[in-house]
Amino acid sequence: MHGAVVNAGVRVGENSIINNRSLFEHDSTVEDHCHISTGAILNGGVTIGEGSFVGSGTVIKEGVKIGQDCVIGMGLSVRSNQADYSRYTGKSSS
Ligand SMILES: CC(C)(COP(=O)(O)OP(=O)(O)OC[C@H]1O[C@@H](n2cnc3c(N)ncnc32)[C@H](O)[C@@H]1OP(=O)(O)O)[C@@H](O)C(=O)NCCC(=O)NCCS
Repeated sequence: MHGAVVNAGVRVGENSIINNRSLFEHDSTVEDHCHISTGAILNGGVTIGEGSFVGSGTVIKEGVKIGQDCVIGMGLSVRSNQADYSRYTGKSSS
C-alpha cells in the first residue's frame, strides 16, 4: 500500500497485506497470509510467521521471530521471540 518501504533482501509470501507506511528492513521475512498494519516497523532480519497480524505502529526488534498465527497489538515494542499462536499486548503473551 501507499508509502510502504521494502528494503533489500526482504521476502514476502503470498496473500499478505503490506499496509500504508509500513517499513520492512533488510533481510526480514513475512510468510504467507500476514497483515502488517499501517506504520509498523520490522527491523533487520525479523521473521513473521504464516497467518500473523502486526498492529499499527508496532516496532519489532532486529532478528526477532514471530511465530505462526500470532496477533501482535498496535503501538508496541516487541523485543523477544513469540511462540506460534501467541497474542502479544505488551503485558504478557498468551
Ligand atoms: C491486540 C488487540 C487485537 C486486542 O484486542 P481485544 O482482544 O479486543 O483486547 P482488548 O481491547 O479487550 O484488551 C484486552 C487488554 O489488553 C490491553 N491491550 C490490548 N491491546 C493493547 C495494545 N495494543 N497495547 C497495550 N495494551 C493493549 C487492553 O488495555 C486490555 O487490558 P485490561 O485487561 O488491563 O483492560 C487490539 O487491542 C489491537 O491492538 N488491535 C490492533 C488494531 C490495529 O493495529 N489495526 C490496524 C489496521 S491497519
